[in-house]
Amino acid sequence: MSKSKNLYIKTFGCQMNVYDSERMATAMGADGYNEVSSPEEADMILLNTCHIREKAAEKVYSDLGRFKPLKAKNPDLKIGVTGCVAQAEGKEIMRRQPLVDIVVGPQAYHRLPEMVKSVDKGEKPIDTDFPEEDKFEHLPTAPKMKRAPSAFLTVQEGCDKFCAFCVVPFTRGAEVSRPVSQIVTEAADLVERGVRDITLLGQNVNAYHGTMGDGDATLPQLIRELSKIDDLKRIRFTTSHPNDMTQELIDAHGEMEKLMPYLHLPVQAGSDNVLKAMNRKHTAESYLKIIERLRVARPDLALSGDFIVGFPGETDADFEQTLDLVREVKYAQAYSFKYSTRPGTPAADKKVQVPEDVKSDRLKRLQALLSEQQKEFMGSMVGRVLPVLLERPGRLEGQLVGRSEYLHGVHATIDQAEIGDVVNLRILGADTNSLRAEFVSK
Ligand code: SAH
Ligand code: SF4
Ligand code: F3S
Repeated sequence: MSKSKNLYIKTFGCQMNVYDSERMATAMGADGYNEVSSPEEADMILLNTCHIREKAAEKVYSDLGRFKPLKAKNPDLKIGVTGCVAQAEGKEIMRRQPLVDIVVGPQAYHRLPEMVKSVDKGEKPIDTDFPEEDKFEHLPTAPKMKRAPSAFLTVQEGCDKFCAFCVVPFTRGAEVSRPVSQIVTEAADLVERGVRDITLLGQNVNAYHGTMGDGDATLPQLIRELSKIDDLKRIRFTTSHPNDMTQELIDAHGEMEKLMPYLHLPVQAGSDNVLKAMNRKHTAESYLKIIERLRVARPDLALSGDFIVGFPGETDADFEQTLDLVREVKYAQAYSFKYSTRPGTPAADKKVQVPEDVKSDRLKRLQALLSEQQKEFMGSMVGRVLPVLLERPGRLEGQLVGRSEYLHGVHATIDQAEIGDVVNLRILGADTNSLRAEFVSK
């Protein structure tokens, strides 16, 4: 094998990009690249990018600019742009920033090692295909090295929903589900390497319909298969669309022990006019009904969501309905954004854009309400004994940091258990972003 080289990957955007970065690192690892944590040491830099909002996309170019001196120092340094900006902008990236050597979209990154070789021949490869072949079949599996107890696993990719504001159907392509057997094999391998908590990923994960035997499996059927892996203790999935929340999946929350009582179910807005203009194809009421049914199936279910304020045409009265919906649901956690115009999406052409200061004001009000709810939810943990998956050492001597079922970080001084164990901890107090606890039992 040739001399080992250093790879630096910077990841933007969603959890799927985190997963993709891991797979790319493994693919390049098979070619002798070791992952490092700073661009200064790198022989190759990959920016795995996000196109979801303008700010995220523009960030890539300022980062690229910062690599200029590194390339001046080391002319053999290779710079690649991967992910959703690569898909959306293709060769435009190299035009704007000539120091980029490689551009590869999310569906073609299994070809990355080949592309790297062609850079050595003086080429500047671009691949934004949606190839016929299954990239996962062509990506090498990771060496049997121990890893952290929580992991992401992509089971479904792409989106056929076409919300009027969103680039994802264009950057990730049409909905594709991986076969059950492929996912089970990958999950079993992760568990063998120390993983205890797997989050199944998909842009529309609850529309999952991967092949199993002669037919297709639903998401709850996939979760049932994964539940059979003994040492896998926790299963989660994200992100779901309300319209694919079947009764079978709702019931699964009451039936499957390993499925965590925490669900990310974005609604985006509380006004039916806005939801219609967004092409969400559900109403505020139908969303609330789903939440009601979920809470019947699993009374301790906590919810998180995504919101957009200032979608074109959103009035003050529309926005008030978003606040009403939030008050009714009571979220444990949520992400909220100002609407960002994305080139090529249907909403980009709308004439009635909401002024920036109005968007800012609405975002502030929404976030104040959401953070109040988040604080209340965290506070309600105090005094309870919760199962916590121990994930890593803390900053203090003897301290370990774990995750509750609701993804809260929990700190405790523990010598009775180790990383990878699920232990019962009594919650003593809540800080802004994490909980303090003491050991109760294993
Ligand atoms: N597939 C997931 C995630 C999509 S992106 C889903 O369907 O929920 C994550 C979030 O970014 C979205 O839920 C939405 O709230 C937000 N988002 C997407 N496009 C946006 C835009 N143009 N402006 C602002 N926020 C946006
Ligand atoms: Fe984007 Fe809507 Fe698809 Fe989610 S469901 S990825 S918001 S188009
Ligand atoms: Fe961003 Fe692409 Fe994920 S646009 S949010 S990295 S699917």
